[in-house]
Amino acid sequence: MSSLEERPPDHTVKLAGRIGAATRVTILTGAGVSAASGVPTFRGVGGLWRTYRAEDLATPDAFTRDPQLVWEWYAWRRETVAACRPNAAHAVLARWSRRDGTTLITQNVDDLHLRAGSRDVVRLHGSLWELKCADHCAAGVTPWRDERVPLPERIPRCPHCGGYARPAIVWFGESLDASDVDRALAATACDVFLTVGTSAVVYPAAGFVHESKRRGAFTAEINMDETAASSTVDLSIRGGAEEILPALDRLIS
Ligand code: OAD
Repeated sequence: MSSLEERPPDHTVKLAGRIGAATRVTILTGAGVSAASGVPTFRGVGGLWRTYRAEDLATPDAFTRDPQLVWEWYAWRRETVAACRPNAAHAVLARWSRRDGTTLITQNVDDLHLRAGSRDVVRLHGSLWELKCADHCAAGVTPWRDERVPLPERIPRCPHCGGYARPAIVWFGESLDASDVDRALAATACDVFLTVGTSAVVYPAAGFVHESKRRGAFTAEINMDETAASSTVDLSIRGGAEEILPALDRLIS
């Protein structure tokens, strides 16, 4: 390999410089970060929403109509994710998350950031590995951990009220946890806001990059393709998160 080929592209060097000089760095991740681990994305090639209808599986109405179908779909997703391992992108973000001033926000429900060792992750959309009360009983609104693989075929009961338990995932039409949104919004006050592997179409997460730009952050994106955020960010890098993040990390460390 020639020395020219070894040099990282200019935009990667530029972003590394920005991150290296920053006091506060906020990173928002989406399904693309876990793609190299084998977790299906939602909207890309092979994405879940290209095969399944979100209205049938990821809404409160869907659960009311056919709880067993929804339960089985999430049980299948948990089994899929259980067979996956964190990749190099998760590993880099886990290291960065331990630095003062870094906030990691994710839309992913696979918990691969946690398994890679990330600290204080803001999990905006919940977790495949937690359950909560489907009837919203007072004690059961706080999710509890459930790591069984496979999940039982019959839907378990809420230990507090005896109603159905359900995946502790934010479904379409539901509100995000207010404290998670507050933490994420607070983190938009940063020097560098980096969005990685998200199509940037689901709000409120998709709005955070705009908010951070409004507040003066340098904004950047890492994605295989153009996204809804590409025209907003100051720097858009095309490529796999599992390659670009380690390249940035090598330049910064
Ligand atoms: P999407 O499936 O909408 O977008 C995934 C993005 O990752 C796309 O823009 C791809 O181009 C990009 N991508 C794929 N492989 C990549 C790689 N190796 N490196 C970098 N980028 C890559 O997923 P999200 O934006 O995360 O909601 O979707 C947002 C939310 O919509 C999800 O959290 C989910 C879904 O409905 C819930 O689960 C509540």
